[in-house]
Amino acid sequence: MSWVGGKKALRDEVLKRFPPYYERYIEVFGGAGWVLFHKPPGMDFEVYNDFNSNLVNLYRCVRANPNKLKYKLRYILNSREDFDIVAMLHKRGLFHRFKNFDRAAKFYQLVRFSYASGLDSFGSQPHSLWSDFPMIDLAARRLQKVVIENKDFEKLIRQYDRPVSFFYCDPPYFNTESYYKDVGFTRQDHLRLRDSLVAIKGKFLVSYNDCPEIREIWDQPGIRIEAITRINNLAQRYEGGSVYPEVFISNYDTKERQNMTRQLNLFDDFTEGGLYYER
Ligand SMILES: C[S@@+](CC[C@H](N)C(=O)[O-])C[C@H]1O[C@@H](n2cnc3c(N)ncnc32)[C@H](O)[C@@H]1O
Repeated sequence: MSWVGGKKALRDEVLKRFPPYYERYIEVFGGAGWVLFHKPPGMDFEVYNDFNSNLVNLYRCVRANPNKLKYKLRYILNSREDFDIVAMLHKRGLFHRFKNFDRAAKFYQLVRFSYASGLDSFGSQPHSLWSDFPMIDLAARRLQKVVIENKDFEKLIRQYDRPVSFFYCDPPYFNTESYYKDVGFTRQDHLRLRDSLVAIKGKFLVSYNDCPEIREIWDQPGIRIEAITRINNLAQRYEGGSVYPEVFISNYDTKERQNMTRQLNLFDDFTEGGLYYER
């Protein structure tokens, strides 16, 4: 589902930069899980985490009993009046009073029917929740063997760090911290994230907006910063060709996987007597 800061447009670029070998995959700022759901399941132990308990409750319900969740969603109307009531309950922090599946359905209603998934204003889009049901079933299947955590990043990183761990971190971008209404994120938290990661035994990859503050925070020995740009879909309407600069920050060589794939292609093509070409 769509989510503020969701990595739908960047997920291929993120996956390409995964280290070739790891045994534990930990998605520290899971959000809507665009990267986890794009990552093919393997033999690795996978952890999804987010500090937002409404979101985590939703994914736990999806995994535990997608039919029960769909049953609850079946009776939700795409209506401004109903949306406003639920948005008001959310704003007042009353969601935790509902039973898990009711809370999950209400949170899904907010995400799906709000403008730009901002959770507070009604989006007025002709969307039917019924059309999401096949996707909910797929998500439930994908999550079966995934550990779902609801921790602050610092504790999570400490808990799962091993030499064979790989952490993908997609924190709130610098100056967008206030977009995440259920959880607070401060300037201090950007520093805390760096301090939690720089000395780990495992590997990490962080995605951020490219700005002087982030470059300064991460200007550390042994840390690699790679700049990339992607088309800024929102700005295209006003400014054709507008791009959004982002960075990947890591403590390992993010080209390793791509180099390995190239070598394998070369090998494959020679054994087949074919010519080398780049896929
Ligand atoms: C940029 S979004 C992640 C988007 C996600 N990669 C996706 O593709 O949907 C950042 C996420 O960090 C979560 N978050 C904020 N503070 C956190 C903290 N202290 N610990 C863990 N997660 C946190 C927010 O709830 C939000 O879902």
